[in-house]
Amino acid sequence: MKVDDVKNIAVIGAGNMGHQIALLAAIQGFNTTCTDVVPEILAKAEAFADKYLPGRVAKEKLTQEQADAARSRLTFTNDLAEAVGEADYVIEAVLEVLELKRKIFADLDRLTPAHAILATNSSAIVSSKIADVTSRPEKVLNLHFFNPALVMKLVEVVQGPHVSDEAAQLSMALCDRLGKVSVHVKKEVEGFLLNRILEAINKEALWLLEMGVASFEDIDKAQVFGAGHPMGAFRLMDLTGIDLNYIMAMEKFRASGNEAHLPSPSVVERYITGNYGQKTGKGWYDYSEES
Ligand code: CAA
Repeated sequence: MKVDDVKNIAVIGAGNMGHQIALLAAIQGFNTTCTDVVPEILAKAEAFADKYLPGRVAKEKLTQEQADAARSRLTFTNDLAEAVGEADYVIEAVLEVLELKRKIFADLDRLTPAHAILATNSSAIVSSKIADVTSRPEKVLNLHFFNPALVMKLVEVVQGPHVSDEAAQLSMALCDRLGKVSVHVKKEVEGFLLNRILEAINKEALWLLEMGVASFEDIDKAQVFGAGHPMGAFRLMDLTGIDLNYIMAMEKFRASGNEAHLPSPSVVERYITGNYGQKTGKGWYDYSEES
């Protein structure tokens, strides 16, 4: 398959990342289906598209015709078979739970055309832990977008040892068509490229907070006004989800057994009280007050 043959994209999981990846694909000209097993999440994704596209027209970023065409290319369904039956390229963006992903990839292998590439947007689980449930491991890879996926240009294309050069190259060409900047990650290292860098910053920011050196607001200010980062570590955790931060740290701890990888106490505190960040209205910052 060549990138020109990719006409239909299916996105599995309509949450934080999936809803924006699907909308992006539709805006960039692909027939896109977006599916989720949770009706409320799917409805929220559809409502987002219906609000976002007119907003782009109002901001003159899209013409009315472009917005209408994008909307007509985007379908939401809770039926996995219907979503992926004609897919040329699938992007899975469900929860970071290995067994769930393995189940979904086994289903995808059964339900998608044999030529389809099956990508995971996972930032924590490398595709070699999933590919063996399919009959096409050479076409199973990590295609890692950044939050918010409609805005952030970077996509990491991770070529594990089982991935064919053809699938990796096609995925990078597809990123071009999606208006993204791809980087080729040639080994399956934990955290790939950018999350390793962000994690180092995060760890340091949490240490400074927990040692009482500064407030989280001031640590964020230091990053923004001293280093020109668009947002500090705490605001960014609120955007990507403190739950994700917790889950990724726990995954890392389980894999290594190293207590240094455990989530830090202030992250645990927010995780157990359900304060995950923007999506719950409160994390480090209070979004109800802000709004
Ligand atoms: N969804 C879609 N679009 C959004 C958005 C959102 N949640 N938030 C902002 N935007 C868009 C706005 O519509 C606007 O678009 P236009 O300029 O085209 O009109 C643009 O982004 C800028 O928005 P604002 O002026 O309102 O706000 P800003 O300048 O502060 O930018 C931001 C917001 C883009 C999020 C910026 O703060 C930023 O770049 N933050 C850093 C984000 C980051 O580091 N992401 C990586 C996270 S790590 C990750 O994702 C890895 C993982 O595995 C989870």
